[in-house]
Amino acid sequence: MSFTLNVNGKSVTADVPADMPLLWVLRDILNLKGTKFGCGIAMCGACTVHLDGRATRSCVTPVSAVGSREITTIEGLSADGSHPLQQVWLELDVPQCGYCQAGQLMTASALLARNPHPTDQEIDAAMSGNLCRCATYLRIHEGVRAAASRMAAASTGGGPGEPDGLAGARAEEER
Ligand code: FES
Ligand code: FES
Repeated sequence: MSFTLNVNGKSVTADVPADMPLLWVLRDILNLKGTKFGCGIAMCGACTVHLDGRATRSCVTPVSAVGSREITTIEGLSADGSHPLQQVWLELDVPQCGYCQAGQLMTASALLARNPHPTDQEIDAAMSGNLCRCATYLRIHEGVRAAASRMAAASTGGGPGEPDGLAGARAEEER
């Protein structure tokens, strides 16, 4: 069957079986390899993308269920890697092997889009379904907190100086 999908702001067509998981359409048909396969059963979060802004596990989402919803993958999170989460991820050296990190970023960005000022508990709750075999959980948490601070500073016209969250995260790392 032919499906017209809205991927990262572009309309694309995929001629695939209706039950093919969106993950395989993205990776194998559209050559968007940033989204990763981990478990294939909605247990790890490596395959997370956005559907109309909601974090969604593409490994268990049949392409036929997507419809006209906007699909955003890690390749479309920003045009040039400038999303505050992507910037902070680099500054804090969040990834280790990196395999899980696209999914982590997509879950975190969906969280900050719907809740720009999450508490520590809300960050942990939102991120709890994204597994990391390298156990970068502390840096992920600090990265989300720092990105939220940066986004809040930007929205109130704050300057480009280092936000409290990032300074705090560095202090934690240095302890
Ligand atoms: S690959 Fe989709 S949740 Fe693990
Ligand atoms: S950085 Fe290696 S699995 Fe998360």
